[in-house]
Amino acid sequence: MAPTPNPRILYTAIPQSLPVFGEHITFDESATIDLDTAELNGGVLLKTLAFSADPYLRGRMRDPSVQSYTPAFVPGEPIVNHTIATVLRSEREGFKAGDHVVGLLPWAAYSIVPPDARIKPVSNEAGVPWSYYVGILGMPGQTAYFGLKRLVELKAGQTIFVSAGSGAVGNVVCQLAKLEGLKVISSAGSDEKVAYLKEIGVDHAFNYKTADTNAELQKAGPVDIYWENVGGPTLDAALANMNRFGTILVCGMIHDYNSRGDPYPIKNFGAILSKSLTVKGFLVNNLIAAEKEGTAVFDREMGKLVADGKIQYKEHRYTGIENGAKAFLDLFKGDNFGKAVVIVADQ
Ligand SMILES: NC(=O)c1ccc[n+]([C@@H]2O[C@H](COP(=O)([O-])OP(=O)(O)OC[C@H]3O[C@@H](n4cnc5c(N)ncnc54)[C@H](OP(=O)(O)O)[C@@H]3O)[C@@H](O)[C@H]2O)c1
Repeated sequence: MAPTPNPRILYTAIPQSLPVFGEHITFDESATIDLDTAELNGGVLLKTLAFSADPYLRGRMRDPSVQSYTPAFVPGEPIVNHTIATVLRSEREGFKAGDHVVGLLPWAAYSIVPPDARIKPVSNEAGVPWSYYVGILGMPGQTAYFGLKRLVELKAGQTIFVSAGSGAVGNVVCQLAKLEGLKVISSAGSDEKVAYLKEIGVDHAFNYKTADTNAELQKAGPVDIYWENVGGPTLDAALANMNRFGTILVCGMIHDYNSRGDPYPIKNFGAILSKSLTVKGFLVNNLIAAEKEGTAVFDREMGKLVADGKIQYKEHRYTGIENGAKAFLDLFKGDNFGKAVVIVADQ
């Protein structure tokens, strides 16, 4: 059989600020693969169904000498991220053609992974679209679930503020908090996103681009728990409106991911002292590593919440691998409305 095209999204150069398509990230159509004869060397041949575009990938586009919690990407290599794929051929025990797996895989139509690759079988008992396994039933959902349930004691009647509330992590945090009986305040970057937040039960939602965050929090606060997704001026406003003994869960700070080492200068850090606040930064992988059963409880509980319709989920689908770079870059402009996923193949 003739070789099959294997289009890929490559990381090509270290960006100083917002990456540029064609310069720091490129679409490459030069590679091919022979799906029948390619050597597996004990591994598995996978066909990509969908992959996730996540803000943290920006942190991997850095000078490799700068230490961080994930290794720097290597220029010339494909971007790698959470992917759902189907097995085409396998020489590895426990995996057979037709199985579905999730793992950190290259942004390519096909990939061959070595025998020790960390890929996890997915049975999809919830009967949801496969892409959910890189979204609400994958890393972003795990971030919301373990962050909210493990890092703070939730009490009905408390007030939580969630920034970037319509996004992948934020919308799950909002809905889990509502299920726990909390009052939820949330911000997002468009009126359409605000309307969606109200639909999923958020008590006080506002557009931070047209409203004053400080005034909105004064109206609806004070805040017992702040779920921090963005940093920058939103963090300043949250600090000014925290309740005494409140908790800030620092999940992300996307405002500064492209700030050329010149982050927004926070003015209200003094509130941490004067209000006796607790500030907890976390990485989802560390939370999962601390779980006795790994993600098992999440797989059960979140799968059921989604299957039973107790939690709504919104995807922003980009169709075609060639749109992978756009899916990623849109995150920094707020052009995604829901979880950004790239659909590469239907099955
Ligand atoms: N700690 C962890 O383990 C972990 C795991 C996953 C994600 N995260 C972090 O969680 C945050 C949310 O991630 P996600 O995957 O759910 O992304 P997302 O919310 O689906 O997409 C990113 C959103 O951030 C908002 N945004 C972009 N630039 C902004 C700016 N300058 N100021 C304010 N808002 C801005 C935009 O929404 P608007 O239209 O509302 O502005 C955009 O849609 C990110 O900071 C991410 O790095 C952390």
